[in-house]
Amino acid sequence: MRRPIRIAVTGAAGSIASHLLFKIAAGEMFGKDQPVILQLIEIPQAMEVLLGLAMELEDCAFPLLHTITLHDNVEEGFNNVHYALLIGATPRRPGMERSDLLEKNAAIFAKQGKALNDFANRDVKALIVGNPANTNALVAARNAPKLSPSQFTTLTRLDQNRAVGLLANHTGVNPKDIDGVIIWGNHSTTQFPDLYQSTLYGRPAMPVIPMDWYTETYMPAVQRRGAAILDKRGVSSAPSAAQAIVDHMHDWALGTKPGQIVSMGIASDGSYGIAKGIYYSFPVRCDYGRYQIVQGIDLNEFQQSMLVATEAELLEERAGVDHLLPKDTEATHTN
Ligand code: NAI
Repeated sequence: MRRPIRIAVTGAAGSIASHLLFKIAAGEMFGKDQPVILQLIEIPQAMEVLLGLAMELEDCAFPLLHTITLHDNVEEGFNNVHYALLIGATPRRPGMERSDLLEKNAAIFAKQGKALNDFANRDVKALIVGNPANTNALVAARNAPKLSPSQFTTLTRLDQNRAVGLLANHTGVNPKDIDGVIIWGNHSTTQFPDLYQSTLYGRPAMPVIPMDWYTETYMPAVQRRGAAILDKRGVSSAPSAAQAIVDHMHDWALGTKPGQIVSMGIASDGSYGIAKGIYYSFPVRCDYGRYQIVQGIDLNEFQQSMLVATEAELLEERAGVDHLLPKDTEATHTN
């Protein structure tokens, strides 16, 4: 048996984590031979609920679940962790402006970035899920000067899975026979679900997809899927978000399948003309803990305009949290 790895989860008593923790403990994220230590973090008011969840985890008697520890602060909770899943965030309340939400959550992620910097394993891999996820990732990374920006990523796998699911539903093709669906940009309604590289049974999908269905029905459906689920269920996506987190971390840690492209929000290195440093969703391939942007994709005018529109939103969000981005990490994190 391997040595256990330490995984921190913030927002551990919340909706997403309530699904996710059981999947991690069952070995879905890091493999069926990898024991795990779960370091679960919540705000003080949620510690009782967290304790109840930990009792349920214990009651599953998962062979791979080595230890569970509970924390009401990130400094303790991030101690020596190899992986950090930053899910906890303040939800948007009625009457709250988007800028207030951005500000409030960015302050949380600045603190968490500092704590990862000071207490986590030096090779920690962090996934930011709490919204606005891309900009929270930027804030966390910039507040962690001892870590590389590449150690921070943000979740757009849910958008990718939604895009594949909706395409599968429309075409009748099984998701396993669909490849190359890309999400570019922000985890928001400006994201670009790109089907130009996608294939159905290995053959290009675009020739068989009507353009008006693509731009007027499909793209808005992917972009607004979260709101549609909220409308129906009265709660935001949680089981599907948990599955996407498993997929993202699994592929990052263990590698993508040969030829497979997945979408991850990562620090832009300037590829495809995107401003350096912002956390932008790109097509990537992963190879045991490393990822590389898929280069050389030819983009037509329409695709270019979509990439630029979602980039503009991220630049605006960055401007809104400028005061939380230490200037001394600017050069190292954008070169
Ligand atoms: P939830 O409200 O059910 O749970 C959030 C939990 O985080 C709560 O238990 C709360 O006490 C905790 N929390 C708040 N501030 C914290 C802090 N500073 N430290 C530790 N814990 C803290 O929300 P849910 O449904 O689990 O979603 C969590 C976040 O994920 C939200 O921001 C949501 O918008 C985002 N999200 C992102 C997705 C993506 O694809 N990037 C998809 C779905 C949700």
